[in-house]
Amino acid sequence: MATSDTITERRPFRPAVLDLGDARLRPWGRALDVPGGVVPALVAAAADAELARWNPLDTADPAAAEAYLDRCDAGWAEGTEAAFAVTDAADGTLLGNAFLRWTDRADGVAMVGYWLLAAARGRGLATRATLAATRWAVESAGARRIELFHAVGNDRSCRLADRAGFPYEGTLRASWHFEGRGYQDEHLHARLASDPFDE
Ligand SMILES: CC(C)(COP(=O)(O)OP(=O)(O)OC[C@H]1O[C@@H](n2cnc3c(N)ncnc32)[C@H](O)[C@@H]1OP(=O)(O)O)[C@@H](O)C(=O)NCCC(=O)NCCS
Repeated sequence: MATSDTITERRPFRPAVLDLGDARLRPWGRALDVPGGVVPALVAAAADAELARWNPLDTADPAAAEAYLDRCDAGWAEGTEAAFAVTDAADGTLLGNAFLRWTDRADGVAMVGYWLLAAARGRGLATRATLAATRWAVESAGARRIELFHAVGNDRSCRLADRAGFPYEGTLRASWHFEGRGYQDEHLHARLASDPFDE
């Protein structure tokens, strides 16, 4: 009989590049190459007002951005986290992020997160990136259930969840601590491996 340890070893996230046509998902890490440099791009992203409101980044200065990249590299090396930068397919510019983390690896449960820079919003890119990352987690890493959390009031994220086939499952009370705003309620949405992906 498989022990939970052997099951865990069977579900690593391994570095991959996912092709969306007009954009690519590429592993975040020290080696990621974006025009102008990945550290300045992350510092600039942290200053985005919508990100600061709904998805604060811990990359406000170069040292913090480098530490973030080191955590991404470690997550890939350990197979526990899959942090993808969303970049423009033509010129490699940073557009956003799609992120997966095992929350119960033995049971195949992961969570997904995402953000886009302002110029990339409003054209369906985050939905496509979320779906591509989720599909990859199911097909390449054996995810059984992928959960998506967003703060109550983040209506764009809620619409994205519905559009990407993550139905609403309930409201979690005081489940996420936002710096300076205390604990916030979140919506839980989720997708199962058995839910079909449209071609
Ligand atoms: C949440 C966030 C990623 C959503 O970005 P987005 O661009 O609205 O989401 P999508 O990429 O799925 O695009 C969908 C929007 O583009 C529009 N759109 C235009 N062309 C489209 C197409 N071909 N396909 C799908 N949607 C399209 C949709 O109508 C939709 O807009 P609407 O919700 O106002 O109706 C973005 O607002 C963001 O980064 N916010 C700050 C950080 C954040 O909240 N992160 C999530 C924390 S839980």
